[in-house]
Amino acid sequence: MLNGGKTNRARSDKLSYGGKGINVSVILAELNVKSTALGFAAGFTGAELERILKEKGINCGFVHLDSGNTRINVKIISDKEYEINASGPTVSDGDLAFLFNRLDEISDYDWLVISGSVPGGMNNGIYAKILERLKYRKIKTVVDAQGDLLLNTLKYKPFLVKPNVFELSELFDAKITTEEEIEFYAKKLQAFGAKNVLVSRGKNGAVLICESGEIIKTKSAEGVQINSVGSGDSMVAGFIAEYLKFSDFSRALKFGTACGAATAFSEGLADKRKINEVFASFNE
Ligand SMILES: Nc1ncnc2c1ncn2[C@@H]1O[C@H](COP(=O)(O)OP(=O)(O)OP(=O)(O)O)[C@@H](O)[C@H]1O
Ligand SMILES: [Mg+2]
Repeated sequence: MLNGGKTNRARSDKLSYGGKGINVSVILAELNVKSTALGFAAGFTGAELERILKEKGINCGFVHLDSGNTRINVKIISDKEYEINASGPTVSDGDLAFLFNRLDEISDYDWLVISGSVPGGMNNGIYAKILERLKYRKIKTVVDAQGDLLLNTLKYKPFLVKPNVFELSELFDAKITTEEEIEFYAKKLQAFGAKNVLVSRGKNGAVLICESGEIIKTKSAEGVQINSVGSGDSMVAGFIAEYLKFSDFSRALKFGTACGAATAFSEGLADKRKINEVFASFNE
């Protein structure tokens, strides 16, 4: 139990990296798919993050900010789970311009995954602006974001969007639980422009509405959940890795689902061994 007004001492502690895009890169690395992490890095925490990513064989294309530190978020597991997320360093218009220049270095036929939220105060049209800049390029884009940040991107026809069922409900201010409701609202996202819509449902599996109109559903792999963070990111990475190999939606969905489960069944993100184990059992 946390005591206000007193020093609280932790029984154990752990420092780990995070961030949705980072998670996608880390799982891609486990799957032997090369990626470059883009975004902003600042100070000693930013340098440490880059060191860890490079050690994993992930390229880093961060824009380095002049001041501040890449934020440290604190999670306290006590009587309840407490979460304190720092606000993070300030990103100037100049820094943002540097990031946009990095986008021009992406090659045709590469994939770009845009994932997570943006620093407070930043415009919720920013992801749309990224896609606007790339609209005449042959780049496959994936958006995993919430609310207007996601909705604003749809007119640029992202290849894939991956809301979870709560995010889908929030987008339409509706209570969405059944498969029929999921399909109904996922199709609305398609009508707004998304090519393929993958709705993840935690331990209830996932539904993929393909550009062709085909609907593919999958159950989740069976296992004991010990982690609730990063399953969606793992699913995105697994989906991309498998789609790159076979250009097959059904296979990509199945492998993505296994990767999501593998992370749910791991402390932190899944490693290669866990992914293979879950995929093998899932395939039986
Ligand atoms: N407890 C679980 N058991 C089995 N599979 C799971 C479990 N949790 C997640 N998964 C798998 O991972 C996929 C993605 O999970 P989820 O829907 O929780 O994503 P998310 O909410 O976007 O996660 P995050 O944003 O934290 O990465 C699910 O569709 C499912 O296939
Ligand atoms: Mg998610």
